[in-house]
Amino acid sequence: MNEKAVLFTIFGATGDLAKRKLYPSLFRLYKKGELAEHFAVIGTARRPWTNEFLREVVTSSIQDLIEDESQAENFASHFYYQSHDVEDTSHYVTLKNLGEELKAKYNTLGNQLFYLAMAPQFFGTIVGHLRSEEILTGEGFERLIIEKPFGSDYESAKKLNDELSCVFDEENIFRIDHYLGKEMIQNVTAVRFANHIFESIWNNKYIDNVQITFAESIGVEDRGGYYETSGALKDMVQNHILQVLSLLAMEPPTTFSDEEIRNEKVKALKAIRKYTEEEALDSFIAGQYVAGSIDGEEFVGYLEEPNVAKNSRTETFACGKFMIDNFRWSGVPFYVRTGKRMVEKGTRINVVFKQMPVDLFNNNQNTLAPNILTIYIQPTEGFSLSVNGKEIGQGFTIEPIKLSYRHNSAFLGNSPEAYEKLILDALNGERTNFSDWGEVARSWELIDVIRSAWDKNPKELATYKARTMGPKESYELLEKDGRSWAWKPEEWYIERG
Ligand code: BG6
Repeated sequence: MNEKAVLFTIFGATGDLAKRKLYPSLFRLYKKGELAEHFAVIGTARRPWTNEFLREVVTSSIQDLIEDESQAENFASHFYYQSHDVEDTSHYVTLKNLGEELKAKYNTLGNQLFYLAMAPQFFGTIVGHLRSEEILTGEGFERLIIEKPFGSDYESAKKLNDELSCVFDEENIFRIDHYLGKEMIQNVTAVRFANHIFESIWNNKYIDNVQITFAESIGVEDRGGYYETSGALKDMVQNHILQVLSLLAMEPPTTFSDEEIRNEKVKALKAIRKYTEEEALDSFIAGQYVAGSIDGEEFVGYLEEPNVAKNSRTETFACGKFMIDNFRWSGVPFYVRTGKRMVEKGTRINVVFKQMPVDLFNNNQNTLAPNILTIYIQPTEGFSLSVNGKEIGQGFTIEPIKLSYRHNSAFLGNSPEAYEKLILDALNGERTNFSDWGEVARSWELIDVIRSAWDKNPKELATYKARTMGPKESYELLEKDGRSWAWKPEEWYIERG
């Protein structure tokens, strides 16, 4: 058994993230034996909960995973609650005492993992107190997991990072980007570096363009307040999309180690062209959904959503083109798009290869479809490769055929949840699937220019009807380059426009 000894302290233990993701992930690790006897969890937040109440909440959050009631009861018995005001020094003293008691009771070898599942403005205060009140003792490993957003621009991210790095070394800071815990995102490196047929043509000689789509069918739900301060660019592009892009674009690392991979990702991000504001306006589009319907179901527009200003200019859709100025990628656009209330939930990458130089089969009209490698991230997982073949029959018509491997991981139930993987990685001190400060800093530099260009040039926001694939401007962006989106789910749903 690979059991870990550790004391977790979760700040924000009463929140949604803890209930939806953290408690179920810890329980999955418990069922697998990664956590057994030598762990304890202190949940803290402002609310005056008791240990018993936290345990009830934990138990209800893992309902779907319970096969054996006594196992669930044992698991929940490792949870303790302490009501906590992050600004109040005396509360850290109580926290330290409880921690000391639990370390001894569960023999956690002094290992500590602090999970900050709360608003980033408190991060600096919390870690400062962890040090000043000597909750950090240096006995075992002491690691910090933090949630996004990591700052709201380069300046605020840098300030936050300075505060954290006064207390924790970079190697002990685990910045969560939950996309890096997804099975198929981790598979990007496998596709590239375990398959000669791909890696040898993974460059501007053979690849025409790369398309990354992160579509969501949901709207802003009850997160209007947060979303108003963020928008799609900061919510999705700055972190998840640029992380995926760097995995697609990086050079092969010399070894498959955290450090080598991180260095290559940072190099790839540094090679992404930092636009002038004028170029940013030309290359990026902001959109917002208005009321729409699909299959007879009606959806309100963004401005009618709760906690959204009636004249809000927040973008619920962002789309653009990144260029990478290095030997491998020069001239290959990386198109990205993401939005709320799009036709369907679908995250996928399309690598579009160049046209054949000659079309032997059709008087050189070049009607051959390009080969496309698709990596399906979710909701189904898998790959497909579209190749051209001869249509069965007398004549000689060429048609694209899909070689496809797809499965629904939720259905098979064999893909570990992203958070489960990431928490286990953090327990093992494995940092590959977390964002490093170098990556975060460069991402903000790239995003800040776009944001500032949009803010200084308040032209009409492009709009799109709820449950479509985004504004017409996002199609025009590719059309003006003589290209088009390879994935057009709207074609079988509704007419564009
Ligand atoms: C989060 C964003 O980081 O990712 C959300 O803040 C978004 O707005 C979510 O809905 C999407 O994640 P997933 O795993 O559901 O694709």
